[in-house]
Amino acid sequence: MGINSLKTVKVADAPTFKQFVVDRTKLQQLGKALFWDQQVGSDGQSCASCHFHAGADNRSKNQVNPGFRSSLIAGGDTVFGQTSRGKLTPNYQLTLDDFPFHKLQDPNNRNSLVLSDTNDVVSSQGSFNVDFRGFGLSANDIGIPVAGVFKDPATGAMVRNVEPRNTPTVINAALNHRNFWDGRGRNEFNGVNPLGSLDAEKIVKITSVNSVVFVQTRISNSSGASQAVGPPLSALEMSFSGRTFPLIGRKLLNRTPLAGQNVALNDSVLGSGLTTGEGLKVKYVDLVRGAFDPTWWNAPLGWVVDLADQANPELVKLPDGAKPSSTQFTVMEYNFGLFMGMAVNEYEKLLIANDSRFDQFMEGDNSRLSPQEQQGLRIYLGSGKCINCHGGAEMTNASLRRVQGFEVLERMIMGNDRVAVYDNGFYNIGVRPTKEDMGVGATIGSKNRPLSNSRAFQKCVNDALTANPSLSLAQANDSCGVPRMLARPAEAAKLLAKAAAQVGNPQQAIILLNQANALISSAPPDLLQGSCKLAKNPALPCPVLPDGSGVQMDGALDVLAKFSIDPAVLTAAASLLPDPVSPGAASSLLAPPLGRNERVAVDGAFKTPTARNVELTAPYFHNGGTATLDQLVDFYNRGGDFAVQNQDNLDPDIQPLGLSIQDKADLVAFLRALTDERVRFDKAPFDHPSLNLPNGGSAASYNPAYSFGAGSPVPIMDDRVTLPAAGALGTVRLGTPNTPYANFPDPLTPPSPSR
Ligand code: HEC
Ligand code: HEC
Repeated sequence: MGINSLKTVKVADAPTFKQFVVDRTKLQQLGKALFWDQQVGSDGQSCASCHFHAGADNRSKNQVNPGFRSSLIAGGDTVFGQTSRGKLTPNYQLTLDDFPFHKLQDPNNRNSLVLSDTNDVVSSQGSFNVDFRGFGLSANDIGIPVAGVFKDPATGAMVRNVEPRNTPTVINAALNHRNFWDGRGRNEFNGVNPLGSLDAEKIVKITSVNSVVFVQTRISNSSGASQAVGPPLSALEMSFSGRTFPLIGRKLLNRTPLAGQNVALNDSVLGSGLTTGEGLKVKYVDLVRGAFDPTWWNAPLGWVVDLADQANPELVKLPDGAKPSSTQFTVMEYNFGLFMGMAVNEYEKLLIANDSRFDQFMEGDNSRLSPQEQQGLRIYLGSGKCINCHGGAEMTNASLRRVQGFEVLERMIMGNDRVAVYDNGFYNIGVRPTKEDMGVGATIGSKNRPLSNSRAFQKCVNDALTANPSLSLAQANDSCGVPRMLARPAEAAKLLAKAAAQVGNPQQAIILLNQANALISSAPPDLLQGSCKLAKNPALPCPVLPDGSGVQMDGALDVLAKFSIDPAVLTAAASLLPDPVSPGAASSLLAPPLGRNERVAVDGAFKTPTARNVELTAPYFHNGGTATLDQLVDFYNRGGDFAVQNQDNLDPDIQPLGLSIQDKADLVAFLRALTDERVRFDKAPFDHPSLNLPNGGSAASYNPAYSFGAGSPVPIMDDRVTLPAAGALGTVRLGTPNTPYANFPDPLTPPSPSR
């Protein structure tokens, strides 16, 4: 998919949207309120606390995690590492000298001397490490602190937990097919948790005047919704351990959204009479009632969900006048995850940054990109190979349009000339050793379900064939709903050319390969006849012998099969060619079905982030170990950091690029032209309420005996910074280039005295 202005892309609704939503405007209001409201977290954390700066996070103090995701150490790595500047610790103030986390003597040569290396991760601080005990009257929950790794090294005071992966931006996230670095925020929302169809969780539906039932739902095109129901319960993000969505519903429904936070009178979503300048004039319950179809909240009198046994929720009807017990929840409370997910997703659908200078250039105004930026664009499309993964107007192959509308699974040639199947849009590019973080290759939940679609489908095919050995592979694929993969004749030709070279380039094979390449690269390409030159195919109208027998002529593969060539190479090539049974239409030729033992390359692969607005979203990559765009481009230019170690899963495009100093500068200039100025200055739709956010700890905030409401006082530190509210016309923000305040990794300084 070529690149284009993002204005050409429309955000898709869920096909079943109208079964749930009666008023989109109210849904957006609910979503924006929930996203920015500090009451949602257990201790003042909102979603925005980690997504306040260009949809991401530019704090640089107490933002380091020692490597909880490492599968090399049982239970993860809890010991902090070292940069070239010094030892990392909780509450550490990062500086530019700490970066990159994999520091080389020659940044253009991945084999040069390693000056320092750490598996630590730059991410975002979340909640304190506390067990949930209940709600009080204040916005903060009641809990008991639990010993953890995040303690200030000098004072021993507790500081906030930090997440184990860098915080990506929420801007344009609604365009992603799945969300999170590992894709666990599924495309299909189950109304309860991020896992979509990987989980059997149910919500409650009111089916008639006196009937309430549990139903399973799968709301597609909703990875933002799946994502949004993760953090509110996560002990590393917003929650004391042990909260549930029904409890959050109970806490919030009768509260004033954004109580104590300023809201601009001209806020693009929350203005227009909804606010007096602080908080909203309505309660959450009003917004839920206004936005959602009554089927999901208006239960007949007396019906509640009993959660005495968490694993087995029960619908019960209370006798007239009886009050629910502490384990019994109203249907509106019980379904609060559904409301939060859909509402936040709807807000994120507004956060589309489609008006960068690059977009304006693509719309026809050539003056919007300087000659240097245009040269950078050429490198992005050409020698930099960036387009191969950051494709489409979205500038990521993990977009909804690309994955769903085009290909869920793909085959690619790996480093050793074998072919593997992978999840489209997810690549191992050698940022860190594969096993430090398995990414989409990990499993999740008590049943260890694979996060990777390739693995999940392959497991299903194997189970189907084991249960019924008489099935054909194609039938097993069909019964599992495995999406068909596209044939890639050009790639097959590359493999066959290598095979031919190994046996001295037999003339007949070379002629056929040349003919195939000419057909494949002609304008318009003739992939069908090109494929016939590579291998005969009984299901395609390939040329036949002139002898009238009707027998098809050999292709290059058929010729090479007569030589002593590693048969695995020919099998690999065949898997990239049209299927000999059902090759689909000439316009989109289909490859053979997914094999039951076929190689899958997903370990250590991460979702490709968008390249848009990256000027504002440092640090980069899933580990946050790269601080500047110059460092990022150096990484690609040297062919990654752990390319050799990660060979089994590495994307073959990660190779030294040989860019000149000028090329690299041009590419960085182009990346900077991908900034939407409305994002830079918090203009609508990126305007927002005020936010009081944590920023590490210092002597000023040292509290020797802080109680989380349930006794058990402990020393803590919790510095706060206030981001002022921005109305539709925007504001000066915390740490944006070209504003007087800090940008990552400079210390965050507030534009006004903190509260
Ligand atoms: C403590 C900081 C923190 C808080 C609070 C937080 N997030 Fe995040 N967010 C992260 C991190 C870290 C990731 C990446 C995690 C991963 O992929 O494993 C992330 C990922 C995301 C993504 C995925 C973007 C992408 O491209 O994959 C979205 C969307 C998002 N968060 C929205 C939210 C919403 C909505 C909330 C509130 C319900 C929220 N976040 C609360 C830190 C936070
Ligand atoms: C093989 C696919 C692939 C190619 C080629 C590729 N990228 Fe990436 N890119 C990714 C993936 C995957 C990530 C995330 C990897 C990780 O964190 O482990 C990423 C991350 C990034 C990020 C970080 C964004 C963030 O928010 O952290 C930027 C910027 C970026 N790439 C730009 C580029 C540029 C510029 C090029 C061309 C020189 C390029 N990419 C080439 C797949 C690719």
